Amino acid sequence: MTEAEAGRPRAETGHLGLGARFAPRAVHRRPDLPASVRIWEVGPRDGLQNEPSIVPAAVKAELVTRLVAAGLSVVETTSFVSPRWVPQLADAEEVCSLLAPLRASRRASADLRLPALVPNLPGLERARACGVRDVCVFASATETFAERNLNRSRAEVLAASAAVAAEARAEGMGVRGYVSMCFGDPWEGAVAEADVVSACERLLEAGAEEVSLGDTIGVATTGQVVDLLDALARAGVPARRLAVHFHDTYGQALANTVTALVCGITTVDSSAGGIGGCPFAESATGNLATEDLCWALDGAGVETGVDLDALVETSVWMAGQLGRPSPSRVVQALSGRTRPDGDRVAGAASEEA
Ligand code: HMG
Ligand code: MG
Repeated sequence: MTEAEAGRPRAETGHLGLGARFAPRAVHRRPDLPASVRIWEVGPRDGLQNEPSIVPAAVKAELVTRLVAAGLSVVETTSFVSPRWVPQLADAEEVCSLLAPLRASRRASADLRLPALVPNLPGLERARACGVRDVCVFASATETFAERNLNRSRAEVLAASAAVAAEARAEGMGVRGYVSMCFGDPWEGAVAEADVVSACERLLEAGAEEVSLGDTIGVATTGQVVDLLDALARAGVPARRLAVHFHDTYGQALANTVTALVCGITTVDSSAGGIGGCPFAESATGNLATEDLCWALDGAGVETGVDLDALVETSVWMAGQLGRPSPSRVVQALSGRTRPDGDRVAGAASEEA
């Protein structure tokens, strides 16, 4: 990069973060999209819970630290679930302890949130003992997934989530709710909008600040997204209390996300490098890749606060740790591209190995 290029502000050049070095392109603003989007990064939790191998706690903590350094202000770190059910995240305490310096950092006192998933009151107790300040409860729109995922009926899962949400809020913790299988269920097929609405209402009433709508198996299409968000709005659930969480099984996650943004959603879940899935739903693959989301939003002039260059480098590094390439198209495109000076993005070689 020339000295003149290095000093040019992004807005003037129309070149974007990493794009300024690798893929210059113009910003085409979309007035129908929000000015900024809050990205809720789920890779260290949703991604790593589904890995066949167990990633060491130190690698998990480094992943979280690198994601924060790349500009992500919410990074879901781990789950306080049964270690027998999800051995991949059995080291939640150790990961939290390694992240203690980050939690105590100046960034954390400003806007950083490092939430963890909690299924029940014993899980909340574990999280609290580790200094976790934000928790996520999770329920299901459908009966079968509630049983498969949490060994309880849909109503019992909602009751357990509500109990955790109420207690966590009473202690001043941040609380998010997830509702899974909002757009289709591999055992039950179509999911009634009313079942999604009632689950969201229950979690919000119990104290969740927001609810994330999970397309656990990635089957949603754009019209269905519009219809569900309309149904929620008609029921009095405002878009500002909702987030979207699309898995990318059928390649629809980005289209569905952009559709949700047009409908007024401003918080989007994604996973660095597109890693992820749910061990209790066979047809679930990775989440929308954070890089694919950032590429789309950068191009539309939507602020995310994320440095795409640093994010891609992190995902390439993580792919090396996992021993397989990232499924993200943007990671693949940018990490395979040579710089003008002939170097590749750091870590690209280990991903290819
Ligand atoms: P259970 O076997 O029915 O538990 O599992 P239990 O209450 O009968 O207790 C059995 C044992 O587990 C007891 O120990 C408990 O103490 C212990 P024992 O007496 O046998 O030694 N136990 C716990 N241990 C540690 N932490 C806890 C805990 N709770 C009980 N919190 C349970 C019920 C909820 C524990 C189990 O079903 C579980 O952990 N499920 C986790 C499922 C999960 O993590 N799924 C993936 C996340 S959800 C997701 O990915 C979807 C999402 O991304 C959105 C989307 O995509 O849709 C969020
Ligand atoms: Mg998920």
